[in-house]
Amino acid sequence: MKNPRLFLSPPHMGGREPDFVRQAFASNYIAPLGPMVDAFEKEFSAYTGLPHCVALSSGTAATHLALRHLGVGPGDEVMASTLTFIGSVTPVTFQGAEPVFIDCDESSWNMDPALLEQAIDAAARRGKLPKAVIPTDLYGQPCDLPRIRAICDRHGIPVLCDSAEAMGARIQERHAGADAWAAVYSFNGNKIMTTSGGGMLASHDTELIDHARKLSQQARDPAPWYEHTEIGFNYRMSNILAAIGRGQLEVLDERVQRKREISAGYQARLGGLPGLSFMPEPAGCRSNRWLTVALIDPAAFGADTHAVREALEAENIEARPVWKPMHLQPVFKGCSFRKGQEAVSEKLFAQGLCLPSGTAMTDADLDRVCDIVRSRRP
Ligand SMILES: Cc1ncc(COP(=O)(O)O)c(C=O)c1O
Repeated sequence: MKNPRLFLSPPHMGGREPDFVRQAFASNYIAPLGPMVDAFEKEFSAYTGLPHCVALSSGTAATHLALRHLGVGPGDEVMASTLTFIGSVTPVTFQGAEPVFIDCDESSWNMDPALLEQAIDAAARRGKLPKAVIPTDLYGQPCDLPRIRAICDRHGIPVLCDSAEAMGARIQERHAGADAWAAVYSFNGNKIMTTSGGGMLASHDTELIDHARKLSQQARDPAPWYEHTEIGFNYRMSNILAAIGRGQLEVLDERVQRKREISAGYQARLGGLPGLSFMPEPAGCRSNRWLTVALIDPAAFGADTHAVREALEAENIEARPVWKPMHLQPVFKGCSFRKGQEAVSEKLFAQGLCLPSGTAMTDADLDRVCDIVRSRRP
């Protein structure tokens, strides 16, 4: 008999979610609005420090509404991290605009601010600045928002931080995304907190959030009948799912702590092996360590990430390569990509392996994963 499957990052309920869901049923707000949505938004704002937010059906929807509000359209460019999940950038194409991908740096694996600056300077010389910049907080590690903001502010370019993976993470004591023009969060089933599926758009800009709220509900104008002066979407979060989110928010700090313990556990068990290292955490950052990611140099380690991943899979353990960079995706063939001498993201894709990081994992599970990783060495 096989061991039960060890997933990369399965949902982990705190216990009070069913109470909130029962309250939602009792109120009969089985709808994409209601008291749970209102309360979830209020508690989310208090937790992150972003004063205005709107709960949506996904993080992708949140990015889409932000770009829509900015009027991004055909002929426009939006600069984004290449090392990310595709949901970070598909909204650029929904709007008919072109993504321009920026490589990451070795010290954070996030968007390299120096490369962003070069790309923006080149764009300024051409007289065509990007309509927005979307840096990702990769695997829950905040990007260098202070530097990215400083570069973009000089040109008045809004920064939409993709903090989809970074709930509970901090940079210089501020919540991930809190100092961007706007930030996007995901509550997909694999995230550190989940509503099964859902997202949040949060900002200091009231106009953005008011407009996004309207756009998320088919852009209905205030009138007794259904009046529409612009095209909207059906992107609002359900009251039932917001109830789950409230329960998840209550235990988020505990989840971050456990994710960080798991990461430290991997580093303690595997850290000394030749050719194996981990995603670095820059000073001032407190990643939520959504996923612990190992970097395996095949020459020094004696096996590559694929061999390690297959050995784990044979034991019913899920591990996954690092995101395939967007500039390598066939669907984005021909899009611009800014890199330094070497494409750091390509190396990370070739050598990076996301390890099981579920917060309900036990130390025995950690031992089991690490024994298998170690066993692949010759
Ligand atoms: C970095 C990143 N951006 C965007 C998204 C999109 O979020 P969602 O799945 O809620 O649409 C995700 C996660 O799924 C993500 O990991």
